[in-house]
Amino acid sequence: MSEQKRAWWKEAVVYQIYPRSFADSNGDGIGDLNGITAHLDYLKDLGVDAIWVSPIYASPNHDNGYDISDYRAIMKEFGTMEDFDRLLEETHRRGMKLIMDLVVNHSSDEHAWFVESRKSRDNPYRDYYIWKDGKDDGPPNNWGSCFSGSAWEKDEATGQYYLHLFTKEQPDLNWANPAVRDGVFEMMTWWCEKGIDGFRMDVIGMIGKENYNDGPVDPGALYGSFAPSCMHTEATHRYLQEMRKRVLDHYDLLTVGETSGGTENALRYASEDGSELNMVFGFEHNDGINDGNELGKWSDHGTPLKEIRAVLNRRQMELQGKAWNTVYLGNHDQPRQVSRYGNDSELFRTRSAKMLATMIHTLRGTPYVYQGEELGMTNIYFTRVEQYQDVEVHNVWKQWVESGRVDAQDMLRFFARIARDNARTPMQWNAEKNAGFSTGEPWLPVNKNYLLINAEDQINDPDSVWNYYRKLIALRHQYDIFVYGWFEPLLEDSDQIYAYRRVLDKQVLTVALNWTDRKVTCNLMDDLTGEELISNYPTHQKGILQPYEARVILSVTE
Ligand code: GLC
Ligand code: CA
Repeated sequence: MSEQKRAWWKEAVVYQIYPRSFADSNGDGIGDLNGITAHLDYLKDLGVDAIWVSPIYASPNHDNGYDISDYRAIMKEFGTMEDFDRLLEETHRRGMKLIMDLVVNHSSDEHAWFVESRKSRDNPYRDYYIWKDGKDDGPPNNWGSCFSGSAWEKDEATGQYYLHLFTKEQPDLNWANPAVRDGVFEMMTWWCEKGIDGFRMDVIGMIGKENYNDGPVDPGALYGSFAPSCMHTEATHRYLQEMRKRVLDHYDLLTVGETSGGTENALRYASEDGSELNMVFGFEHNDGINDGNELGKWSDHGTPLKEIRAVLNRRQMELQGKAWNTVYLGNHDQPRQVSRYGNDSELFRTRSAKMLATMIHTLRGTPYVYQGEELGMTNIYFTRVEQYQDVEVHNVWKQWVESGRVDAQDMLRFFARIARDNARTPMQWNAEKNAGFSTGEPWLPVNKNYLLINAEDQINDPDSVWNYYRKLIALRHQYDIFVYGWFEPLLEDSDQIYAYRRVLDKQVLTVALNWTDRKVTCNLMDDLTGEELISNYPTHQKGILQPYEARVILSVTE
């Protein structure tokens, strides 16, 4: 233990709130800050240490707040700065921390900087964004945006194109301009001075653009990839080091980058030497494996345990002792984890939700719990494209279905499996109207299963998914080995079982997870002496793991 540095952000369990869908305090159908404040006791009872709130800044909401028009103001629908100050104070009063989302790869096209920037070629804010001349009557290069279409938009006022790696309402900031960095760092300092406890940094691995060359085009793809020029560049590392010195080092913060990329990237961003961030989110286990499909994540292809485990284990092994890790399966960009990796049928939903929770809290790294996951909330399974609100879905529909390239029924099936709105439906608080989320018409429908799945029932049921999460979180607080134990993979050839060991001094924590809906032969746990700290089954069978069974045993060696 002595050789590992302790840190609160290593020991914390972080709970992600998607404010629009968490709790509506004034009946307009949209979750808000006062709604969050009203449920802080719920989070405290669950045991979480920190709350990460998805963006709450002023925004025209083309991408639900990930397009910010004023970084120092609160989105009107969410409340006021006074509401925010009270949320912060009440969070702190309960001994919890508040982490803000920081979206600075791009701003909204309604941000004052961009409004100025697009006015003329010699506007003082011109270089706050990335403007280029077109090439041969088209955009400056072949890059596609993350949300379909070209990554360049021609602006008639000046005849030049601006870069947007996401929607055209999200122009990319030009980090090469020192004035942009000054502006962003001042804004971050302003929030830190308010007393916030950290930043989750949106697509931060893309801020440094190295060049503007055409990118490679995958077979069947319509656009080239910007990745070689924009992802994980040396420039990005330089900017983060500067941010660290100028802002982050002056406060005691949790910093987590949304970077994607493999372990080699995580090792640089989150190195224990502390020159950049505390930790980063990898994406490989969630969407790294898509069969070389030209539609990317839009497919029927579920990832076999073997592949997910290989990715997670590699990250565990290569990062430990060198870079701190994150552990998560769900967030506002992913479908519901129990629907995707577990089994959301009535028979197995609770068991499999608990099994996945066991994994998230026993791997090495800071666990992130996405709202509703602690209830085993499921995908909503919309059947028509009009039911979706997400800009990503509508852009994909335009690009692939309306153009006749992909069959509508196929795409609807892919959406039902993987679209982001699956995880953005309102939080299911109780069995009352709209699941207790709002007295008005919710901005996105409540999942009909709220009578079966809601917080109030689960809090009162000792066997619920909620109480299982509560117990897991308490165990993390009680035993250092959950946080600081070294990771060792087990049963790496199994197609059905994810098993591993954590080791700290004389303690060994053994974890076995059956990822299937069948009984699986397994004698790993049979002869272990020690204490069973948690399991999702009351009794066990020798030589067998029951469907979705999870077992965690703590042993002490001589
Ligand atoms: C991140 C966010 C996602 C958003 C995108 C653009 O991936 O998590 O919700 O759409 O960045 O800001
Ligand atoms: Ca509201």
